Amino acid sequence: MEHYPSRRIVIASLFAATSLPLLSRSASAFAPMIVHRDPGCGCCEGWVAHVRAAGFDARVVDEADMNTIKAKFRVPQALASCHTAEIGGYVIEGHVPASAIERLLREKPVAIGLSAPGMPDGSPGMETGGPKEIFEVVLFGATGSRGYGRYQGASAI
Ligand code: CU
Ligand code: CU
Repeated sequence: MEHYPSRRIVIASLFAATSLPLLSRSASAFAPMIVHRDPGCGCCEGWVAHVRAAGFDARVVDEADMNTIKAKFRVPQALASCHTAEIGGYVIEGHVPASAIERLLREKPVAIGLSAPGMPDGSPGMETGGPKEIFEVVLFGATGSRGYGRYQGASAI
């Protein structure tokens, strides 16, 4: 019988103690995010939880008229979804996975931003428990748009 904390527990608690400052450092590595959303729409909250879990510092602003917000941020109608976020000079429309946003901020392409058009089933914030749809993340700019990766759930495929 062992009367001392097991090695595994000691290692786990050391990790817990040291990982907190590491997490807060990586969170501040991203520019702050502002998420505009209609307070009547719930799936945005699931998406905000997803990006926060990935280390983004997201602030939510309730809006009365999301169409005005989308026009202001130059989101093409064909690429519209529910919430519209701003981060690091880019616009993020809809249920875009956090890893795609990280890639955008790393690669810094000339663009307005990223969209996951519509409300893809199983995308971050749209987990229904049913089959996860494969969807395309779109990079859009003033002159056009192109694919920026296919995803299923939160993962690139
Ligand atoms: Cu949504
Ligand atoms: Cu929503």
